[in-house]
Amino acid sequence: MHQRVTSSVAEACPPVRADKRRIAVNFSRAASTYDYAAALQDRVAARAMLGLPSDRKPEFVLDLGSGTGRQTIQVAGHYPQATVLGMDLAIGMASHARNCFPNLDWCSGDIELLPFKDNRLDVVFSSLAIQWCTLNRVLEEVHRVLKPGGLFVFSTLAAGTMHELKQAWSQVDRHVHVNGFDAHSTQKHCVQQSDFQLHSFKLQTETIYYPTVMQLLRDMKALGVNTVPSRQNGLMSRHRLLKLQDAYDVFRTEKGLPLSYEVIYGILHKPLLIA
Ligand SMILES: C[S@@+](CC[C@H](N)C(=O)[O-])C[C@H]1O[C@@H](n2cnc3c(N)ncnc32)[C@H](O)[C@@H]1O
Repeated sequence: MHQRVTSSVAEACPPVRADKRRIAVNFSRAASTYDYAAALQDRVAARAMLGLPSDRKPEFVLDLGSGTGRQTIQVAGHYPQATVLGMDLAIGMASHARNCFPNLDWCSGDIELLPFKDNRLDVVFSSLAIQWCTLNRVLEEVHRVLKPGGLFVFSTLAAGTMHELKQAWSQVDRHVHVNGFDAHSTQKHCVQQSDFQLHSFKLQTETIYYPTVMQLLRDMKALGVNTVPSRQNGLMSRHRLLKLQDAYDVFRTEKGLPLSYEVIYGILHKPLLIA
């Protein structure tokens, strides 16, 4: 999948681990629908990008979990002199991004096993992707590929994300429908234990409102996030949908049904080498 990725930064891409294949398949399937449902994701990415400094002239910039590439193109606009590369686990997403924005470099790969050489990148950006990974591992890998003095600017999710949907489903059945995320304090502790210097690590609630539960579930599917039951968990009968609607309605406001995301906005520095 490396087409034009400059050989001075890229390495051979290891095969996708079996436990990540399901994530990759779901996101690949969502490549053509993602952008229509990604209003909140756009808002979060725009806020995360405020962390990209304007006074740097990076040579190589990487967008991790670049999805359809809409955010990567914004990052490229921020650093017009840089070689900007988007990387995603889902081949369908990376191909979609390449078709839409052929002037940038795209590849597929796993954030936990970055296909890049050590100390090569100036800035690594990532919006709403690293929550699918083990944070320790992400920090090790990003630290490894960044040059000394390099920057990691990202958004990710914390505990409490989609708590309304989680609570509503708990009235319907006992299956897990919504991913769990670590608390802000736990993730901050993890960063503090890493080799990065923590510049900022802020938590902010972002909320999106839906007119109906049906629309919410449709958007989740369009985004590649599977929250409805699989065949073995009893599928989505009309009876279960009505139960879910009743349970969700307790959260209704005049704006509609809220779905909250607890978003962490982080800026980390890889320290310069001390002689
Ligand atoms: C919610 S989307 C965000 C896409 C884009 N950054 C945005 O803000 O619109 C999450 C993306 O992360 C990708 N992803 C999930 N786990 C990944 C991993 N381990 N390595 C690389 N990408 C991953 C998914 O395939 C998906 O495209």
